[in-house]
Amino acid sequence: MDWGMKNRLSRLIKPKTGNAVWLAIDHGYFLGPVSKLEEPAKTIKPLIPYTDALMLTRGILRNCIDSDIDMPFLLRVSGGNSIVGPALSNETIQTSMEDALRLNASAVAFSIYIGTEHENQTLSCLGALVNEGQRYGMPVLAVTAVGKELEKRDGRYLSLCCRIAAELGAQVVKTYYCENFEKVVKSCPVPVVVAGGPKLETEMDVLNLAYNAIQSGARGVDMGRNIWQSNNAVGMIKAVRSIVHEGASAKEASKLLKNK
Ligand code: R5P
Repeated sequence: MDWGMKNRLSRLIKPKTGNAVWLAIDHGYFLGPVSKLEEPAKTIKPLIPYTDALMLTRGILRNCIDSDIDMPFLLRVSGGNSIVGPALSNETIQTSMEDALRLNASAVAFSIYIGTEHENQTLSCLGALVNEGQRYGMPVLAVTAVGKELEKRDGRYLSLCCRIAAELGAQVVKTYYCENFEKVVKSCPVPVVVAGGPKLETEMDVLNLAYNAIQSGARGVDMGRNIWQSNNAVGMIKAVRSIVHEGASAKEASKLLKNK
């Protein structure tokens, strides 16, 4: 791996612990102004001190984030779909590598939709992105998307998706937590981070998810709704951070929820 690629990755996955706490705020690219993310700058302000990197689109970056921010970001470069359109899986590359470099991204992110009518399209886009990433030293995060079919989140399917993403050259893979998650991680030769998915019922559910994912070998989280849709968003990110970086159990981490 070339120096630039390594350096970018080391800004995202903290060398001290080998893990990462990323805050995903890219949902608007297909969901529009999702609840609690209507004004991204306001939502993330109190969470910044506990975040290693942001995941977002260029539109939110340019319009809502100060350019002197001391934090790396993963740039979502895919889109072209929407929640009200005919096929959520119909994504292509929307943001060029040139723009990602101009913006000083530390990685680019792209969703793949395996098993859908757009499987080949999204995998081919991922391959093309990896080719460009190799040329410029830009890591690629592949997101194993399930669209509206949340029931797809099982170990067999997610193992398939993560492995294919890594085989095509993605440097990092983001997927959902599932039963037998350790098998998903073991059979994927690049670091795996977990998304939170739609808001879970309780705060403990989120902490258990993060804890179990880390115990199973995940290298961190790239969470959104379960952090910033919480009424205790700061407590949540502090607690998740202690699990990811300090090896806290879910119960130990839950003590941080009280410090609102
Ligand atoms: C999809 O909307 C994006 O890739 C999100 O970044 C991803 O789903 C993580 O966010 P959440 O934890 O809300 O699922």
